[in-house]
Amino acid sequence: MHSARAHMSRPSETHQLVIREPRPSDGAHMWTVAKDGGELDLNSSYAYLMMTRDFSTTCRVALSDNEIVGYVLGYRPPERPTHLFVWQVAVRDDQRGRGVAAHMLEHLIATSDVDALEATVEETNGASRALFASIARKHRAELTWSEGIPAEHFPDGHAGEPMLQIQPLR
Ligand SMILES: CC(C)(COP(=O)(O)OP(=O)(O)OC[C@H]1O[C@@H](n2cnc3c(N)ncnc32)[C@H](O)[C@@H]1OP(=O)(O)O)[C@@H](O)C(=O)NCCC(=O)NCCS
Repeated sequence: MHSARAHMSRPSETHQLVIREPRPSDGAHMWTVAKDGGELDLNSSYAYLMMTRDFSTTCRVALSDNEIVGYVLGYRPPERPTHLFVWQVAVRDDQRGRGVAAHMLEHLIATSDVDALEATVEETNGASRALFASIARKHRAELTWSEGIPAEHFPDGHAGEPMLQIQPLR
């Protein structure tokens, strides 16, 4: 229903960085970026493959020298279809600090029909918080926090994941 603009999504190329929607054959590389980084909750390889199959219009990969060096997993929450929930964003260690994550999120925002971004970020994840704060600043949008997923809902000692919302996006 909101795929019309997403289908028009074209790869973006900046400083030899290519940003595009993932293909099913990219799923394994996305899983490897997550695993090698070591910071994220590693989903099953199956989960990455399914996201590339069924949610590619709300996900992105970044390629440098034809290698996948970053990805965004995202989806539209069915009850808030104009929002983009960013489930995971990750950039390979040697590519951080050159705007890869920001480019992927900006590409998603520019090519999807969304007016708000959502994500949950642990209190200790300074890099991720800085990334989302920067996106909010660039769009002159408000960044607000809510409880998100409290620690007691996790079965495994996982820290709580406060939820941020950035809107309106323009
Ligand atoms: C979070 C992460 C995706 C950022 O990727 P990145 O490509 O290095 O980020 P960018 O270069 O696009 O930076 C975007 C903004 O965040 C800031 N930023 C990025 N990393 C930062 C850090 N470690 N400390 C402070 N600020 C940081 C940048 O300065 C930039 O802000 P600016 O626009 O005001 O200059 C990357 O550090 C990562 O993969 N971390 C591990 C996985 C993770 O924790 N993901 C988030 C939870 S799902």
